Amino acid sequence: MRRSNGPGKGEKMGQHVLVTGGAGYIGSHACKALAAAGFVPVVFDNLSTGWAEAVKFGPFVQGDLVERAALDAAFARFSPVAVMHFAALSLVGESMKNPGLYWRANVTGALNLIEAAVAAGCGQFVFSSTCATYGDHDGVLVDEDTEQRPMNAYGGSKRAIEDMLRDFEASHGLRHVIFRYFNVAGADPEGEIGEQHRPETHLIPLLLEAVDGRRPALTVFGSDYNTPDGTCVRDYVHVSDLADAHVLGLGWLQQGKPSRAFNLGSGSGFSVREVIRAAGQVTNREVPVIEGERRPGDAAFLVSGSNRAVAELGWAPRRSDMRSMILDAWRWSQKPGFER
Ligand code: UFG
Repeated sequence: MRRSNGPGKGEKMGQHVLVTGGAGYIGSHACKALAAAGFVPVVFDNLSTGWAEAVKFGPFVQGDLVERAALDAAFARFSPVAVMHFAALSLVGESMKNPGLYWRANVTGALNLIEAAVAAGCGQFVFSSTCATYGDHDGVLVDEDTEQRPMNAYGGSKRAIEDMLRDFEASHGLRHVIFRYFNVAGADPEGEIGEQHRPETHLIPLLLEAVDGRRPALTVFGSDYNTPDGTCVRDYVHVSDLADAHVLGLGWLQQGKPSRAFNLGSGSGFSVREVIRAAGQVTNREVPVIEGERRPGDAAFLVSGSNRAVAELGWAPRRSDMRSMILDAWRWSQKPGFER
């Protein structure tokens, strides 16, 4: 793993971007995209859910967002032109069981980071928000103007941070791009980085574990939803496409454009059963499945109905079809050395 020593691709341009959560799944893919675009991603991560091995594209500062001094030191040392804020607790189910954890970690972490950015004179901020801020809208596609009615503490904490950003723009001119992710899936097509959670809770990696016998079966969380086949419908988007959007979002801010929220989804809905079927086809194996109870906090249907990122940012998703996402996740899960 390369840390701060040795120049990487594009480092001569010297524009540092502070990437909180850059050792995590989505953050590490964003670092790869930033480096490819000529930026130097400086990862700030406490490794509570991330992996030092995923920090491959720039310097690494191991630190926690609760430590304001560590943040101030990182801003002073690297003078980043922008912040990308990925670090957060992000599990819907867990947030229903322990809401205090989510409100405390996500909101106070973001507040410290925003205050440190403002104090350092860093006025550009890209924020990882979520479609979970919308809540359930009875099968209606959601766009950026849809009312945000989060139905779990995770979505609530993210919406609060969106509000916080608006206040800090009004008072301190902090321009920001808010990305509301739908369900992120897949892995780096070049196999350098991928999804690795402990414990794993996400549908696609779990069902791939069931496919190759690392777990006995996938449990379908609820089959009595008001959806065509009774299982939850989600909009899946490839992590590398998502990473590309972040570089475009940074460009948007660097061009002096106004703060803006963008949905990042493919616009296509897949039920849990449809994802299971697609995984069976891609891997050419059986997916052992058992039917279980609903998971509290889950919306029945969450699909993006917005073209804003494509129209305004010039985002061009390339691998957000279900087959490519499962194939890339499958290849990553089969990689030698992948932690099991
Ligand atoms: N699911 C199962 N069985 C499992 C795991 C998941 O049936 O073992 C179902 C869930 O109930 C849900 C769907 O598969 O309907 C997707 O679940 P994930 O856990 O993969 O993803 P979530 O939709 O819960 O959450 C993810 C991110 C959030 C983000 C959200 C947006 O973890 O950060 O997508 O929908 F907010």
